[in-house]
Amino acid sequence: MRKLPRVMLGLMAGASLVGAACAEDAPDPNRLPPSQEPGRTANGLALTPPMGWNSWNKFACKVNEQVIRETADSLVASGMKDAGYQYVVIDDCWQGARDKDGFITADASRFPSGIKALADYVHSKGLKFGIYSDAGRLTCGKRPGSQGHEYQDAATYARWGVDYLKYDWCSTGTRNAEEAYALMADALRATGRPIVFSMCEWGQNKAWLWAEKIGNLWRTTGDITDKWDGTVTYSNGMMRIVDQNEPLWPYAGPGHWNDPDMLEVGNGGMTTEEYRTHFSLWSTMAAPLIAGNDVARMTPEIRAILTNREVIAVDQDALGRQGHRVAKDGDGEVWMKPLAGGGRALLLLNRGDTPRTIRADWAMLDLPPALKLSARDVWAHRDLGQKASSYAVSVAPHAVSMVVLRP
Ligand code: GAL
Repeated sequence: MRKLPRVMLGLMAGASLVGAACAEDAPDPNRLPPSQEPGRTANGLALTPPMGWNSWNKFACKVNEQVIRETADSLVASGMKDAGYQYVVIDDCWQGARDKDGFITADASRFPSGIKALADYVHSKGLKFGIYSDAGRLTCGKRPGSQGHEYQDAATYARWGVDYLKYDWCSTGTRNAEEAYALMADALRATGRPIVFSMCEWGQNKAWLWAEKIGNLWRTTGDITDKWDGTVTYSNGMMRIVDQNEPLWPYAGPGHWNDPDMLEVGNGGMTTEEYRTHFSLWSTMAAPLIAGNDVARMTPEIRAILTNREVIAVDQDALGRQGHRVAKDGDGEVWMKPLAGGGRALLLLNRGDTPRTIRADWAMLDLPPALKLSARDVWAHRDLGQKASSYAVSVAPHAVSMVVLRP
């Protein structure tokens, strides 16, 4: 008998003997669901948080092939591709009907050339291509979902050249989330094509507790809205999302990330300073950096935020640890992200409406007070020299100071 892991033997002890006489090659009834297999990892992809662009935040259902082609061109022309943005993801509303054999088709009025041609175009620019579906019967935009068509859809995506799937959670009825996501993960895996799996159940089923072996990123919150704070119907302002995502830092790591939703940088609802804060917090939280703006029409200020390589390097740091809040004094907060090689990314955040001086002591950063560290301001692109025991600076309202400290 094959040596079984202890967890499986435990299960078998309580299992009935029905089916014990099945042929050798029959499926093992005691096999654990894929998401619980010891040693399973999602798929070996996304060892650093995925970077790319998604159509939803700016274009919602008004997406079409022209938008996708133009965005792919602009990602290259703007330098965003060179800065690391890789995946071009069409969100909801690309789908038409299923054909007579159940295969999904594209909405011909928006995507007359078909999805394969579009994926080829995106690939021709040296970028990767992503698509969206849903674990229920219908997507949130009321297009056909993948429920009951998981393997068929995964095979279709692989034939089209899809590299990334965002998988939503509308119209799922009584489905169990872990089971539904594991089914699609298995279907993607069965294609043999490496496909990043982005899970979007908005934190309703606490995906961080079980999704590490299933997908590469999971949404931790409802939808983001392009505002500094607060809630608008079901959507959350940026700082509210931050507060929901922050405590989940222990669950993130290489290949499996907390996803506080896509970036609103450049969509017009926040100030440039607030967008800098938004981008800094996402990078400190090792969040996926999925831009959501009109890349073809962005201002130089927005481009400078999205392509700040020193901030991106914090997000993409190989250690893969999610940074978090280590001290709070009213509206002043100190955040820390450990970096490979013993360094620290330090974020001093002023949530308030007046300037304030914020101070980080080395003790807050798990560092001995006497330790001398070289400090670099990654927004000013300026070396600040050697610092010991603490670093303090005046921070403007709704702004950050972001510093990389290295031994
Ligand atoms: C929501 C999801 C959004 C977007 C939208 C499409 O459920 O959170 O990011 O994908 O559906 O309908």
